[in-house]
Amino acid sequence: MFLLVAATMTAPMTVMAQKAKGTFETGNGTFLLNGKPFVVKAAEIHYPRIPKPYWEHRIKMCKALGMNTVCIYIFWNIHEQEEGEFDFTGNNDVAEFCRLAQKNGMYVIVRPGPYVCAEWEMGGLPWWLLKKKDIRLRERDPYFMERVKIFEEKVGEQLAGLTIQNGGPIIMVQVENEYGSYGEDKPYVSEIRDCLRGIYGKDLALFQCDWSSNFEKNGLDDLTWTMNFGTGANINDQFRRLGELRPNAPKMCSEFWSGWFDKWGARHETRPAKDMVDGMDEMLSKGISFSLYMTHGGTSFGHWAGANSPGFAPDVTSYDYDAPINEYGLATPKFNELRKMMAKYNDGKALPAVPKAPMPIITVPKFELKEHAPLECGIDEREKGTLKTFEEMDMGWGTMMYFTFMPEIPAQSVLTGDFHDFAQVFVNGEYVGKIDRVKNEKSLTLPPIKKGSMLTILVEGMGRINFGRAIKDYKGIVGDVTFTAEVDGTETTWKPKEWYNATIPDDYETAKESFDCLKEEFDEMKEEISDLKKEKWGWMLSHGMKKEMEKMQEDFMSKGGFLGKRGYYRGYFNLSKVGDTFLNFETWGKGQVYVNGHAMGRIWSIGPQQTLYVPGCWLKKGKNEIIVLDVVGPKEAIVWGQDKPELNKLQLEKSNKHNNIGDKPDLNSATPAATGTFNGGNGWQTVKFATPKKGRFLAIECLSTQKEGDRVAIAELYLQGTDGKRISREPWTTKYANSEDENGNHTGDKVYDLQESTYWQTEKGATPPHLIVIDLGSEQTVSALEYLPRAEQGAPGSVKNYKIYLY
Ligand code: GLA
Ligand code: CA
Repeated sequence: MFLLVAATMTAPMTVMAQKAKGTFETGNGTFLLNGKPFVVKAAEIHYPRIPKPYWEHRIKMCKALGMNTVCIYIFWNIHEQEEGEFDFTGNNDVAEFCRLAQKNGMYVIVRPGPYVCAEWEMGGLPWWLLKKKDIRLRERDPYFMERVKIFEEKVGEQLAGLTIQNGGPIIMVQVENEYGSYGEDKPYVSEIRDCLRGIYGKDLALFQCDWSSNFEKNGLDDLTWTMNFGTGANINDQFRRLGELRPNAPKMCSEFWSGWFDKWGARHETRPAKDMVDGMDEMLSKGISFSLYMTHGGTSFGHWAGANSPGFAPDVTSYDYDAPINEYGLATPKFNELRKMMAKYNDGKALPAVPKAPMPIITVPKFELKEHAPLECGIDEREKGTLKTFEEMDMGWGTMMYFTFMPEIPAQSVLTGDFHDFAQVFVNGEYVGKIDRVKNEKSLTLPPIKKGSMLTILVEGMGRINFGRAIKDYKGIVGDVTFTAEVDGTETTWKPKEWYNATIPDDYETAKESFDCLKEEFDEMKEEISDLKKEKWGWMLSHGMKKEMEKMQEDFMSKGGFLGKRGYYRGYFNLSKVGDTFLNFETWGKGQVYVNGHAMGRIWSIGPQQTLYVPGCWLKKGKNEIIVLDVVGPKEAIVWGQDKPELNKLQLEKSNKHNNIGDKPDLNSATPAATGTFNGGNGWQTVKFATPKKGRFLAIECLSTQKEGDRVAIAELYLQGTDGKRISREPWTTKYANSEDENGNHTGDKVYDLQESTYWQTEKGATPPHLIVIDLGSEQTVSALEYLPRAEQGAPGSVKNYKIYLY
C-alpha cells in the first residue's frame, strides 16, 4: 500500500522532469534534438516590433506555417535606454515571450548581439556608448566590453533558466552578428562567445551567422557556422564553401530573407513568393535548417528604425518586409503558398489552423488636429557655447535648434557642415532651405546677411546607422559650420564660435507638455526665446534700428512661434468600436506621431510609407488622443484612419535615377584600364589591370550579357589599390547610369551598398551597351576590380564583355 502511493506520487513528477530537460546539439550532418535528427524551421519575429497583447497570436501564426521554432534578436538599446537602467517589463518582457513560445510548442533561438543590425537604431547598440568619443564599437574597447558583459548578464538573468537544458524552449544562442561584414577580429568574437558560454552554460549550442563570402574571416573552431542569404539565391552555391571546410556539419540558413526592408525616398520592396517558397522547399528536401527572416516583420515603433550606409538611407517605420505574415499580423498570399509547401514536411500531420486575428480592422473618419504648440515649446535644455551634438547634450533622440548671430556677409554665401540628419536653415525666422543627409547634401547657398541677423539651424535626427563601419553615427551638427563667400574678389570664410544649443527630445512627455506651455507659459516662453536675441536687439538699437527691431519682434511674436507651422499638433477621435487601423499622414511634413501616449513612429511626406499602423490594443472606446510633431509643418493638419496601409506612394521632388546627361562621360578617346570577358555563374570575379590606373571616376561599359536578352545586373563592386587591398567605398556615389530599374529599387548605388543581395539592374527592354559611372570621392590608384553578379541561381543579368575605365 505504502509503496503504491509512493509510486503514484513520484511517477508524474519524473515524467514532467523527463519532458522538461532536453538537449540540442550539432551532430553529424544534422542537428540533434534530444539525440534525434532535427531540422530547424524557424520563424524570425521581433517582440519589440509587436505589441505585447498580440505576441501569442503572431506565434500561433508562425506555428500555422509549420514552423517549429521562433528566432528572436535582443535589442540592447531598448532594454538599457539609460546606462545602467534595465527594463524587461511589459513589451520588453522577453522571458514572457519565450514562455509563450514554449506554451505553443515552439523552440526559441536567441540572438543577443550585442550588435544585431536588423534595421534597428544603431544595430541595437545604445546611443549613450557614443558619449565616450574614442569608443571602438564591436571591438575590444574596455568600456564597450564592460558594458556588453553587464548587458549580456542582465539578459541571462531573464533567459538562462529557459534553455532546453533547464527545461525551457531555448535551443541555440547566436554569437555576435555577421561580424565578417564588419571586421576581422577573432579575439573579439571569442570574448563574446566566452561571455555567452559563461552565462548559458557549456551545453547550450552556440552559433555564428555570416555570408558564404566572408564567414571564414571570424569563424571560430568550436562554434556552429550558418549562412545568411535571400530569396532566389543559389542554395548549393551558398553552402559550397562550408561543405568543403566542414563536410559533416549540418547546414542552416540562419537568415533566409523573405523580402527586404524599405527606406525613405525609395520604392516599397517586394520579393516573389514563388522564389521564396522554392528556396525553402529545396532546403527542406535536402534537410537544411533555416530561419525565415522575417516571417513577420511588424513595426519599428517610435524612433527605433535604423538607417543604412554607405551614404545615409534611413529605414521607414513599417517593417512589413514583404514577409508572409504582414505588418499587422495577417496572412498574405505568400503565407498561403508557403503553408501549402510546408505541409509536405510535417510528418504527414495536418498543420495547425490559422488563428483568428485578435482585432478587427476599423476606419476612422477624417478629423482635424486643432491645437497647435510651436516647436519652441518642446525645448528642454539650452546651452551657450560651441556647437554640440545630441550626445554632448545628453539627448538620445529628437531635434536640436542651433542659433547664432551673424557677422555681415555682403554677398551670397555657402553654408557648409555635417548635419545629421535633416537640417533646415532660417535667417531671422525666415526659411531659406534644407540640407538633407539622405541626398548627401552638405551645404546650402544663403542670401546676403545683415550684421546681427539671427541664423537658426534646425536639425532633426533620424535613426542611427545600423550597418557597416558608419554605426558610430553622432546626431545634430557634427564639427564646425562655415560660411564662405566671395567678397571683393576674395574668398572669405566665417566660422561663428558662439552658438545657442537647444534640445527638443523626442518623447511623449515633451510633446504633451508643449501644450501646457501654450496656455500660461507661452508668453513667458516667447520672452525667453527673444532673450536669446537680446544681443541682437542691443546691437540694432545702438545702430539706430529701433523701428526694424520692433518690426522683427512683432513678426516673431505674431507667428505664434519662431519657425512658423513647425511644431506640435493635437487632436482627438472617438471610437465606438476598437480595432487596428492605418492613420494617413499624406498631408503632413516630417516628424513623429504619438497615439494615447504610445510612440507610433516616424512620418515623412516623401514616402513610400504614408500611413502608420496603429494597433487596436493601444486604442480605446470613446476619446483617443493623437499628437503629431511636425518639424516641417503640415499642408493640412488632418488625419484619417483607413483599412489598408499605404506603403508605396512616393512624393519626391526628383527621381532617384542618375541619368543627368551632363554627367555622362565621353569615353570615345579614353583608353580602358581593362577590356575582357567575365565568366558566367555565381560568385566573385577579379579583373587585374595590366598596369595600375589613376582616376577619380570608375566607368564600366557592359557590352553584352551572358544570356542574350537579359537586363544587365551587378550586385557589388570593389576596387583594389596597388597593395591589392580593397579601397574604402565610404565616399562613393553614383555619377551616372544610362538605365536603372527604379521601380524595383535597382538603382546604381546598389553596387556599393555592402549588400550582396541588392543590385543595379537596367530597365526592361533597354539594350546594351550599358554604362555605370561611380565617383570615388577622390583620385585613386587602382590595380584591380572585383565584381559580383546577382546571387540568384544562374546569376541573371551577369555581364559578359566589358570595358573598364578610370579617368
Ligand atoms: C542581415 C542582418 C539582419 C538584417 C538583414 C537585412 O542579414 O543580420 O539583422 O539587417 O541583414 O534585413
Ligand atoms: Ca548590393
